Amino acid sequence: MEKDLAKEKLLAAKEAVKLVKTNQIVGLGSGSTAEIAINELALRMKNEGLTIKGVPSSNRTAELATSLGIPLIDINTIARIDITIDGADEFTPELFVLKGGGGALLKEKIVASMSREEIIIADSTKKVKTLGRFTLPMEVIPFAYNYILHELQLLNGFGKLRMKNNEDQPYITDEGNNIIDADFGLITDPAALASKLKAIVGVVEHGIYINLATKVIMGEGDSVVTFGK
Ligand code: A5P
Repeated sequence: MEKDLAKEKLLAAKEAVKLVKTNQIVGLGSGSTAEIAINELALRMKNEGLTIKGVPSSNRTAELATSLGIPLIDINTIARIDITIDGADEFTPELFVLKGGGGALLKEKIVASMSREEIIIADSTKKVKTLGRFTLPMEVIPFAYNYILHELQLLNGFGKLRMKNNEDQPYITDEGNNIIDADFGLITDPAALASKLKAIVGVVEHGIYINLATKVIMGEGDSVVTFGK
């Protein structure tokens, strides 16, 4: 039977949004699943009088939240975020997560790093035993992309500069950088790869999350399955 991914995303989003308490500062993720959660947050504000301040992880999310009447707070005026709800491209039951398919990984990861609770929501197709089925996105300084593509080869990775949809121009992130999507095959040691990537000059950030997600809530069929505390 075919999976109803829209339903699985909605179930996960609703479950995650239940965790948000009034007066909290809430990190707002990016991507289609996170956007469902943002809509659910706005519904709780309307129906239950939930009061929150949102920290958006992308310009697109900021626009969506504003259009739904969610008040935003400047990330540089706070030290911590209470709870963040974000999507993922892949996760393992051990809470390794791969993100950045939507190109927002840098701000997503900053928001995640500031969050006491980082809740990842996903449909059941996102669960893997080992990361690496999805190519690994990394945000890079435009001046360095060709150098970085060569350095990735030395790590047995095959990187490709992401292009804008239907255009002959590189994709530009919210922070004015480029994205390289890199295939390393299965990533059996995410921590080792993460530190090698961070050591390449010009790599701003990569999409591997280690010790950042506190919980993954996955929709599966008609129910949700939770990984983590
Ligand atoms: C955005 O940069 C990503 O990290 C998304 O969170 C991720 O790609 C998941 O997106 P979907 O919920 O649309 O699958």
